Amino acid sequence: MKTRVRAGLAAAAALGAASCGGPQNMLAPGGPAARELAEAGWFVLIVFSVVSVVMWALILWLALRKRGTLAEHAPWNAPEDTRWLTIGGFAIPTIILAIMFIVTLKTMAAFPMGDNEMHAPPPMLRVVGHQWWWELQYLVGGETHRVVTANEIHIPSGQPVDIELVSADVIHSFWVPELHGKVDLVPGHVNRIRVQADRPQTFRGECAEFCGVQHANMILLVQADAPDAFRAWLAGQANDAVAPSAADVMHGQQLVLSQACVLCHTIRGTGAHGVVGPDLTHLASRRRIAGNELANNTANLSAWVTHAQSLKPSAQMPNLSVFTGEELRDVVAYLETLK
Ligand code: CUA
Repeated sequence: MKTRVRAGLAAAAALGAASCGGPQNMLAPGGPAARELAEAGWFVLIVFSVVSVVMWALILWLALRKRGTLAEHAPWNAPEDTRWLTIGGFAIPTIILAIMFIVTLKTMAAFPMGDNEMHAPPPMLRVVGHQWWWELQYLVGGETHRVVTANEIHIPSGQPVDIELVSADVIHSFWVPELHGKVDLVPGHVNRIRVQADRPQTFRGECAEFCGVQHANMILLVQADAPDAFRAWLAGQANDAVAPSAADVMHGQQLVLSQACVLCHTIRGTGAHGVVGPDLTHLASRRRIAGNELANNTANLSAWVTHAQSLKPSAQMPNLSVFTGEELRDVVAYLETLK
């Protein structure tokens, strides 16, 4: 019997995993917080499935075996009916709901909440929600570090990482299903979460709160690296942008620094200090652009610079149609050196 139950559960799990597979799978937790949620989810699903089966069996029994007695208004059959009501309508639901309550409390206890629990250590990362991209400020001792990047979070695997969530405009929601449940980014309020990835892996997440027309293109990548690789990445990101050497790249840099780009973007080590759009200091080190909507390649960069409004209507990035032909090629060549 036990093996049969276990086989049934395994089959249900396989079915669930098969139908919900993909890059954002709540049923394939990649860390402790997501594992707690997945376990609670399975428990609730199994308990309520059993309750449903019992209820349907009783309804069928009533319909088939007691058909005659339902036709006339049967009088209250004191001891028997009272027993059904007390046990089935009160005692069993109370026990099941009490167990659910305890399981929920246990799950909630796995999520540190409030300032006391979250003060030590101070958060390593501040995630700022923007319409429609993610600004990532790495922190040292709670202060903003030099490293500011966008859309692609890097964390060390195998250790807890505290993250501060804030918003620059409207309400967004941080959701990386394989790492943590949804948590809102609320203007004027700081939320904190603790994530941990078991092993080096890439996770995909999304903004989970409608935040405007490009809400669906506010995608998040989390790259968990081995701690050494993470430290190397952070050290690389702390460097200023590489100075161009080739003539076309130098020309591209001059164009970027003389046009509207500098009003919105920062490229550390140059005169570009804008804070409206993503920091471009290490743009070429990121896999994707435009809130992770597009792969980071020459064609997409060219299209994004000149036709952002076609690719992502209403985004803050304007169409910079001033760049054409050779100029556009040099601008993109420069952006591609920002490793
Ligand atoms: Cu940000 Cu939806």
